[in-house]
Amino acid sequence: MSATLDITGTTRVFGVIADPIAHVRAPMVFNPLFEARGTDAVMVPVHAPADRLETVLDGLKAQPNFGGLAVTVPHKLAIMELCDEVGRQGRLVGAVNAVRFDDQRRMIGDNFDGAGFVAGMRAEGHEVTGRSVLQLGAGGAGRAIAFALADAGVSRLVIHNRTRVKAEELAAAVSAAYPEVPVSVGAADPDGCEIVVNTTSAGLHDGDPLPIDAKFLQPDVLVAEIIMIPERTRLLESALSSGCKVQYGRHMLDKQIDLIGEFLGCFQ
Ligand code: ATR
Repeated sequence: MSATLDITGTTRVFGVIADPIAHVRAPMVFNPLFEARGTDAVMVPVHAPADRLETVLDGLKAQPNFGGLAVTVPHKLAIMELCDEVGRQGRLVGAVNAVRFDDQRRMIGDNFDGAGFVAGMRAEGHEVTGRSVLQLGAGGAGRAIAFALADAGVSRLVIHNRTRVKAEELAAAVSAAYPEVPVSVGAADPDGCEIVVNTTSAGLHDGDPLPIDAKFLQPDVLVAEIIMIPERTRLLESALSSGCKVQYGRHMLDKQIDLIGEFLGCFQ
């Protein structure tokens, strides 16, 4: 990649920390952005086996030119525990996906999964503030998105999950954090909600069931997906053929990259 050709002694170093490491995509995403924006920075893979995580972080912390990390599997929870400070969404979700080292080399973490979804919606002209939302799924991604939707001030959030107790737990946690937002557990039926967001993994693989019965996809409902591959999931195909507006999964990642880059300060 040509971005690496421009690395000099002044280049600020950022990383993506994971184990295993070979599959990480952040270097392929951030380095072309640094190059396009003329930013003197590089994003490198940092392979940190779980039993050496603290040692690796201590070493990075000791390097004044190391700015911070995108965090991925399996370290999102463990790194949160090691942070000196964690932003509100990170604390609510219970996991961080970015950490930066501040001037005192303190480790500051936060989670941008949900904020990326909300920003991605807005970037496509789909405001969530004041809108009613049916969220399908209450797994890891669903947790981040539910808190971010509440933080953005949706008028109503209904959570449906195949395993109901997880929806109940998430609804209770969101309600406790955002008492001003009406949050409930409901059926996989928009029932007046303006936006349906699929945070389940149903749609990743051929033959997966639809996470909601297609008969509920009326043209006045906006259907948002967070699955990126395939770009057009069966859910989005059904929504489009019913005349619904749709939001593709890739916008969440695009905006997460912007938000994480801004948080790490790597685009300066
Ligand atoms: P992620 O980190 O990607 O969110 P996860 O935490 O494993 O992954 O959560 C997967 C979500 O997709 C869960 O809400 C899961 O429902 P359960 O809690 O009942 O397992 C949901 N999910 C997965 N496959 C599904 C399917 N075939 N139909 C409906 N929901 C499904």
